[in-house]
Amino acid sequence: MKIAILPFKLIIISSLIFTVLSCKNETTKPKHSTLNESIEIKVDSVLALMQINEKIGQLVQYSGKWNATGPSSTKGDQHKLEKLKKGEVGSMLNITSVASIRETQKIVMEHSRLKIPLIFAYDVIHGYKTIFPIPLGETASWDLNIIKQSAAIAAKESAASGLNWTFAPMIDVSRDARWGRVMEGAGEDPYLNAVVGVARIEGFQGDDLSHIYTIAACAKHFAGYGFGEAGRDYNTVNVGTNELHNTILPPFKAAAEAGAATFMNAFNDIDGIPATGHKILQRDILKGEWNWNGLVVSDWGSIGEMRAHGYAEDKKHAAEIALNAGSDMDMESYAYEAHLETLLNEKKISIHQIDDAVRRVLRLKFELGLFDDPYKYCNEQREKDNVYSKENLAVARDVAKKSIVLLKNEKGLLPLSKQLKSIAVIGPLADDKDSPLGNWRAKGEYNSAVSLLEGVKNAVGKNTKIHYAKGVDLTIPTIEPGANQFLLPLKFNTTDDSGIAKAVEVAKKSDVVLLVIGENAYQTGEGRSQTNIGFLGLQNELLEAVYKVNKNIVIVLMNGRPMDLSRASEIAPTILECWHLGSESGNAIADVVFGDYNPSGKLPVSFPHNVGQEPLYYNQKNTGRPYSNKHVTFSGYRDAPKKALYPFGFGLSYTTFSYGDLQLDKNEIKASGDIKVSVNVTNTGDRAGEEVVQLYIRDLVGSFVRPVKELKGFEKIMLNPGETKTVSFTINEKTLQFYTANNTWEVEPGKFNVWVGGDSTTTLKKSFSVVE
Ligand code: BGC
Repeated sequence: MKIAILPFKLIIISSLIFTVLSCKNETTKPKHSTLNESIEIKVDSVLALMQINEKIGQLVQYSGKWNATGPSSTKGDQHKLEKLKKGEVGSMLNITSVASIRETQKIVMEHSRLKIPLIFAYDVIHGYKTIFPIPLGETASWDLNIIKQSAAIAAKESAASGLNWTFAPMIDVSRDARWGRVMEGAGEDPYLNAVVGVARIEGFQGDDLSHIYTIAACAKHFAGYGFGEAGRDYNTVNVGTNELHNTILPPFKAAAEAGAATFMNAFNDIDGIPATGHKILQRDILKGEWNWNGLVVSDWGSIGEMRAHGYAEDKKHAAEIALNAGSDMDMESYAYEAHLETLLNEKKISIHQIDDAVRRVLRLKFELGLFDDPYKYCNEQREKDNVYSKENLAVARDVAKKSIVLLKNEKGLLPLSKQLKSIAVIGPLADDKDSPLGNWRAKGEYNSAVSLLEGVKNAVGKNTKIHYAKGVDLTIPTIEPGANQFLLPLKFNTTDDSGIAKAVEVAKKSDVVLLVIGENAYQTGEGRSQTNIGFLGLQNELLEAVYKVNKNIVIVLMNGRPMDLSRASEIAPTILECWHLGSESGNAIADVVFGDYNPSGKLPVSFPHNVGQEPLYYNQKNTGRPYSNKHVTFSGYRDAPKKALYPFGFGLSYTTFSYGDLQLDKNEIKASGDIKVSVNVTNTGDRAGEEVVQLYIRDLVGSFVRPVKELKGFEKIMLNPGETKTVSFTINEKTLQFYTANNTWEVEPGKFNVWVGGDSTTTLKKSFSVVE
């Protein structure tokens, strides 16, 4: 049903009505460095009508009561209601469904003076109700088209449910497996985070933010959140200029250039300055140098948290620091609403700063089309038709199977024949219908995923006997529906081994064992750091007991972080990394297990031998005494290898690939020139399969020490048995430049190495020089 009364008809200023309505149908593709003139005129005309309390109100974001992800607000619903009625709220988060969103929007429309519509935000991280693999898992597909497609579906379901804005993608480069939020990003590499982040932004936002099926994206957390010391969430970050500019910021720069409508700042401090109060980051770099005109929202309560950091005396001081630093919207700190007006009167902040922040909010509301119709996204029929549809679930299955990484397949145990007499499906996650949804599952319903047990049953014929045993419980108590998982302490079962006997019994009588172990949904995500990244509870005991009676073990891993697989990889012939794959998890895993899909995923993070190696990443810098085969104790460990157990970029297939004839079309270029790199990739096995061909470079001498290898491109190709394809990459100025000691992005002349291969340990190498 279309709402008949447009809000602007209720604003008594007729010239404004004319301006707004006459520009109604144009495309509002967000270009956050080039402003859309007609939108700017409208923004100015609204701004001209606003009183100071209304301006400040636009900079306030409240949460609904639901799904609080931080310390719950001290202000009650009554306070929020009054503020909404006065038009002193710009946005709400955590209100979902068309009915609730309409009801909340109505409060503003019916009571406030200017009737400026609210924007509704929600953490749609890997799907709305149709749940896709966790972002780390999806990144393992190295398939930018399907990543974009899954974001587009998440946007469609969200927009059809009344939402306008997601707090995604997270593009924090994350290199410490102890950090629970590793699951939420694209792993350890800046290039991969940049291209995957852009794919997600394009998926969420489409070409036109005012389209009924698109939503605004939010690049987060600006910046450095993935570098928390010791992998502890929210922790202090100590990085210098080189690391900040060359590792942390590139994905954000790419997001700004791709037109991400919003950014979120971060909880952490960077070298002593909380990101929320970081003027250099937000005003000078993001809004200055990058000329980005979008909206910066604080993280939940992060303005107020500057008091705990010891950076602000009180909330008033925190509000002053945050606004001055360029944080436009206050999520749940209640600092802006309480103090900005006084700070303005005291001249501690300026009206230009407030107006600039308000403009950014209004601009987004115009881009979303909310001024044309504040109920534009409130249509129950659309909600019914689009959310959790069969088509969306089919895409979720496709994305999930492409995200699976085959880590080991020694005896060629996989793929399994569908004609096997018996299969044991064992483990605490084997029939878990909830963990595959992962953390941050938006409206994904408790226990709604296809478990692996179900997936296997769906795949095989009647002649195959499936024997199931849980073996052990991972946690105590089992996670209950409706509980606030964010606050729930996890207790691992380390005493009850009574189920292991049955697991052994079923393993004994089966041809093969699928052992489904790893982490449950809430072991990763916000506030979920761990010092133990192995198999918690009694899972190791289960593995050893099953191994004793049946050596044909396929470990099916479900997890949200790189795990310590040292013992598992010693004994199990096959390991399949299945992350938390979302709604269709079990079916997607069965597609791979039975060979209907040939696995093609590659790791976006290094898997260590043990937690003591963390943070572990391939693109490290050399020391003055580099580790080598000759000098294994140099810059390494006495009690463990230095290298990864499973390196970045690694993943097997049911076929094999060989690389050869690496060619550069020149040996020397100028900084502005380019070099064509080509390589022949051959499918040397007997099945068709996909391979992710990866390009790495090293700048051998730099004014800042450069990483030993840096990913600079990749292409996923399909090859039939025996087929060879030539894959080409172009290396140019953009590939070679970095943020140098001159504090600028430039190419420094000198020698470069270039490698191509199927993972980051490739040795297929050539060299070239950049000359002045
Ligand atoms: C998280 C953000 C999230 C926000 C709103 C915070 O705790 O750090 O990533 O978007 O909550 O739910």
